[in-house]
Amino acid sequence: MAGRLDGKVALITGAGGGQGRAAAVMFAKEGARVVVTDVNAEGGAETVQMVQAAGGQAVFQTTDVSQAAQVEAAVGVAVATYGALHIMYNNAAVLHRKDATVTNLDEDIWNLVIDVNLKGVYLGCKYAVPEIIKAGGGSVINVSSLAGLVGIGNVHAYTAAKGGVISLTRAVAMGYAAQQVRCNVICPGGVDTPMMAHVFHNPNPRFREMSAKGHPIGRLGTPEDIASMALYLASDESSWVTGSVFTIDGGYAAR
Ligand SMILES: NC(=O)c1ccc[n+]([C@@H]2O[C@H](COP(=O)([O-])OP(=O)(O)OC[C@H]3O[C@@H](n4cnc5c(N)ncnc54)[C@H](O)[C@@H]3O)[C@@H](O)[C@H]2O)c1
Repeated sequence: MAGRLDGKVALITGAGGGQGRAAAVMFAKEGARVVVTDVNAEGGAETVQMVQAAGGQAVFQTTDVSQAAQVEAAVGVAVATYGALHIMYNNAAVLHRKDATVTNLDEDIWNLVIDVNLKGVYLGCKYAVPEIIKAGGGSVINVSSLAGLVGIGNVHAYTAAKGGVISLTRAVAMGYAAQQVRCNVICPGGVDTPMMAHVFHNPNPRFREMSAKGHPIGRLGTPEDIASMALYLASDESSWVTGSVFTIDGGYAAR
């Protein structure tokens, strides 16, 4: 049976766990060859094993998205290993425990969060877009958050970075549409991944209950809920979609 990503090569950042891992497995099941990247080499190797167990192809490259040379090298691995790059999924981010409201936020933490969550997306675009153009076009998928759309909580560096990702997505979409490079952004609601374990798997179950209830559908998201959207954006089914913001949040932002 034909896969929705047959013949495509995808690079996914932060694919050593959570949503990036779910996307790696889902993309590979649909025929993509996947470059799994993460700072967490152990998690990345596990993801590659999961892809292979599902009958897919993947390689791992240790990559810190805030480091230009490492992002450039990861894109190079995609081209050297699989011959091209069609899909860049800028998924990696951190939710830093010391992120805070602006008056309580250390400059070092601000810099770190902006470096990973916003500069990391810029670097992903910078090195992937020329290769996607060479491949005849393709898809850049960025990850923002509900926090990029509405004022949430007290993580002001995270929120600022995620807002920037939305603006950067629209700019990249306009900049490269004529060369058939599409660029879209996903804004997830609360997704049950390691990033949110301190809330969703808190010893006090009320944290999880309250979080789930905040989403009108009545549950938290799964990594697969988000990967399904990314799969659509990665595939040619979305060939007329660019510069768009996709809120995947169980109805949270619609209230
Ligand atoms: N989980 C949620 O509720 C939620 C909600 C909205 C948006 N998001 C966004 O979804 C995306 C995926 O997050 P997740 O929920 O899967 O979290 P996660 O923490 O499970 O996964 C993030 C991955 O990124 C990796 N990473 C961290 N810093 C990195 C760096 N500098 N370079 C490369 N990799 C790095 C981590 O090792 C991890 O494997 C992120 O952009 C996050 O901000 C998550």
